[in-house]
Order: sequence, then structure tokens, then C-alpha cells
Amino acid sequence: MFRTVLVHAGEHPALAQGQAPPGLLSPAEETILAGLTLLPRRRKWLLGRWAAKRLLGELAAEDNGVVAGLPRNEDWRRQCSILNDESGVPYVDRQGQGRRPLSLSISHRGDWGLAAVALVPGARIGADIESVEPRDPALVRQFFSESEAERVGSGRDADRTVARIWSAKEAVLKAMGIGLRHDTRDIVVGDEKVAPGLTEGWRALDVWLAPVLAVRIAPRSLTLLCRDFDGHVVTVALLL
Ligand SMILES: CC(C)(COP(=O)(O)OP(=O)(O)OC[C@H]1O[C@@H](n2cnc3c(N)ncnc32)[C@H](O)[C@@H]1OP(=O)(O)O)[C@@H](O)C(=O)NCCC(=O)NCCS
Repeated sequence: MFRTVLVHAGEHPALAQGQAPPGLLSPAEETILAGLTLLPRRRKWLLGRWAAKRLLGELAAEDNGVVAGLPRNEDWRRQCSILNDESGVPYVDRQGQGRRPLSLSISHRGDWGLAAVALVPGARIGADIESVEPRDPALVRQFFSESEAERVGSGRDADRTVARIWSAKEAVLKAMGIGLRHDTRDIVVGDEKVAPGLTEGWRALDVWLAPVLAVRIAPRSLTLLCRDFDGHVVTVALLL
């Protein structure tokens, strides 16, 4: 249904310095990087491109039809760009040929970068990585539904529960292409549920959408999956 890749800033010395590893960026991406002046933003942005191009390279090496149309030569990473549309949604642009019909999502947290691609034609994907750490209680008060706040209050591993719910909300809003412009309480993240065929530690989560969002995704259905990773929670939302 989907593929993800996680990369670490320590994989290449240039990434930690906010510089592009040689051969990574297209000319269009180099122009964007030149406009990013703050080091944390440069690092995050580069980690996203490093992750996304790693994932595209893996899929191309497997001859996966989902990346059909990408250049097949050693210099392919310089011939395709990971750009963002006017809403911020990332997409793959092949030099001179425009947006590829491929749903891509990017997230960064600390030294980790995450990229995810939907493998089902026409599906849309949103992915998010969050660290499990104590958060300002205002996050739960302002952005969680009553039932979510109750689960946080009554559970034993509150930090993990908060990270999981917050990451899930972001992943859903990314799959919809909205981001945090929408009220996060219109997405209510539930408990884990049984789902057949999941591998690599992925678990399915129940999720409820307010009618205003349910109408926007119809006739698609929403699948929400999460896994734990090295003190982080990774979430993928798929609109199928
Ligand atoms: C999209 C958003 C949820 C990202 O959350 P985040 O925790 O800050 O950052 P993450 O690292 O998880 O994700 C960032 C990536 O999300 C992607 N993204 C941005 N806007 C997106 C959107 N509307 N839909 C889908 N994906 C989006 C981008 O690829 C971005 O990485 P890039 O800029 O390097 O390409 C959030 O930044 C947002 O909603 N932004 C738009 C609204 C806004 O700017 N609000 C002000 C802050 S509340």
C-alpha cells in the first residue's frame, strides 16, 4: 500500500551543516536552498529531500511502476526536484515535465527525516514523525478532543499517547493536503485495532472524522497506521 524511509542527519556530514551532499539537488532545489537562511530550516528541508530521493531511488531500483517516468541514469537526483505546491504539499517534479502522478509525504523531527510514498495508484498519503517526550499540557487542552484528552489522562504512558495522537492528526491533515490550517479536534484518534497483513511493527488505529472532513475525503476511505521507532512515533495516513 505504501513505502516509507527514515534517514538520519548523521548519514552525511554536509546535512548537519545545512549543506547539500554533492549530487543531491536539482538546480531548482539549489535555488530554494539558497533562499533558506536559518540553519534549522535548511537542515530540515535537506533531510526531507535526502529521505525522499532515497525512497525514489529504492523504488526505481526495484523497477516499481509507481516511479515510472523518472530519469534512469546516474545523475537522476539532479534531474528531478522535490517541490511544494501552493498548500505546501510536496511533489516530484521531473525537470521540464512537471508534477509526477505520485503521492509523496515528508516529515522531519530532530535528526530524523521521513519520506513516504503511496503505492496504490490514485491514493494520497500523509506521514509524520514525532518524538516521545513531555509536552506542554496546553497542546492537549487546545488541540485534542475530549475523548483523546481522557485517554491521555488515564493512560500510563501519557507522553507516547500524546505523540501518537498528535502525529496521527498531522498525518491525516497532510494526506488531505490541508496541514494545521484545520481544527485538529475534527479528527479523533482512537485505540489500536486489529488489521490483517501488517508488517514491520505497523499497527492500525481507529479514527473518526467530523462530517466537514468526511465530506472532503469522500468517496475515499481513511486508513491510519503507526509504529514506534527509536523514541519516536511514525504515522501514515492513507486515503484510498
Ligand atoms: C504541514 C504541517 C502540518 C507540518 O507540520 P510540522 O510538524 O511543522 O512539520 P513536519 O516536519 O512534520 O512536516 C513538514 C513537511 O510537511 C509538508 N507539508 C507542508 N504543508 C503541507 C500540506 N498542506 N499538506 C501536506 N503536506 C504538507 C512539507 O513537505 C513539509 O516539509 P518541506 O517543507 O521540507 O517540504 C504544518 O507545518 C502546517 O500545517 N503548515 C501549514 C499551515 C501553517 O503554516 N500554519 C502555521 C503554523 S500552525
